[in-house]
Amino acid sequence: MLAAVHTRYGPPDVVRLMDVPVPSMRDDEVLVKVYASTVNRTDCGFRGGTPFFARAFTGLSRPRVTILGNEFAGEVEAVGLGVTRFAVGDRVFGYDDTACGAHAQYLTISEAASLAQIPANLTFAQAAPATEGAHYALTAIRKARIRGGQRVLVNGATGAIGSAAVQLLATRGVPVTGVCDSAHRDLVLAWGAERVIDRDVEDFTQDLQAYDVVFDAVGKSSFGRCRRLLTPHGVFLWTDLGPGGQNPVLSLVTPWLPGRSVLFGYPRHDQAMVNELKDLMEAGRFRPVIDRRYPLAEIVDAYRFVETGQKIGNVVITVDHT
Ligand SMILES: NC(=O)c1ccc[n+]([C@@H]2O[C@H](COP(=O)([O-])OP(=O)(O)OC[C@H]3O[C@@H](n4cnc5c(N)ncnc54)[C@H](OP(=O)(O)O)[C@@H]3O)[C@@H](O)[C@H]2O)c1
Repeated sequence: MLAAVHTRYGPPDVVRLMDVPVPSMRDDEVLVKVYASTVNRTDCGFRGGTPFFARAFTGLSRPRVTILGNEFAGEVEAVGLGVTRFAVGDRVFGYDDTACGAHAQYLTISEAASLAQIPANLTFAQAAPATEGAHYALTAIRKARIRGGQRVLVNGATGAIGSAAVQLLATRGVPVTGVCDSAHRDLVLAWGAERVIDRDVEDFTQDLQAYDVVFDAVGKSSFGRCRRLLTPHGVFLWTDLGPGGQNPVLSLVTPWLPGRSVLFGYPRHDQAMVNELKDLMEAGRFRPVIDRRYPLAEIVDAYRFVETGQKIGNVVITVDHT
């Protein structure tokens, strides 16, 4: 099968298209014929071996996982002897950031992992970007126990995590203020934000509104800068280490102190998570946002684009089988 392989850490062009064997399936696994995947920020981190400490998990001097791609959509091609939840021909989507393998024509995944049927109203390309950004967003929303009526500001409202967060909050009846470039204001309003702050015109940290939660979905701000926006028991949520790498430490300390706190939701991915996203997509309450699409043969260009930090939502990789 054709796969995008990287055997050393480095820039996008360490990735090469190669012919490799179709992965073999265990009894509890399904073999998925992949039709669509994504290139996301997690793939970029794994490929580049950054941040450096993450190599303790991904391989110190060279990557342990050589075929990346954590999100996928495709068709079940074969099932292991013990599989009961899925059958050959099922249209499925899912997430796996441990074994990865979705930048290829086939992957294997346990039937008990983050795997669900694609709603009938979605194509493979629409379903593939449903999980990575959304599961970070969903986990953060749960961690801060955000509920209807609270006021939330999402910085980076157009990213993979931000665009999912805006939609998932809006479906819960939470009034959202999104921060984005003025060119993207209408998009963010269409995803359900009540108000938009144009980051190229206004400094959102000087906003006069008080917020129960500030969600820095793009890792460009800090608790220090956003503190004044928060209500006395307000929460700052983060997705990146922060400009000085301070966010993990603040998350350990501030919850024990009175007043405002910094929280990180350790990403949870399981079948319940993908089924929740499936139900929301089926009901038309969540639609993963797609920026560009690239064929697998052009995956290096997709990596280069994602690394500009300017994508809107997600970048889809389409996988051809002809
Ligand atoms: N914790 C983890 O394990 C983990 C995993 C994945 C990602 N991440 C991190 O989470 C963050 C978000 O990832 P993502 O994939 O959602 O991001 P993304 O899709 O790459 O975000 C791109 C968007 O960010 C906005 N943006 C760019 N510069 C900005 C700035 N200075 N201030 C505010 N917004 C800016 C741009 O929109 P506008 O031009 O419209 O503002 C752009 O559309 C990244 O820092 C990533 O490294 C963490």
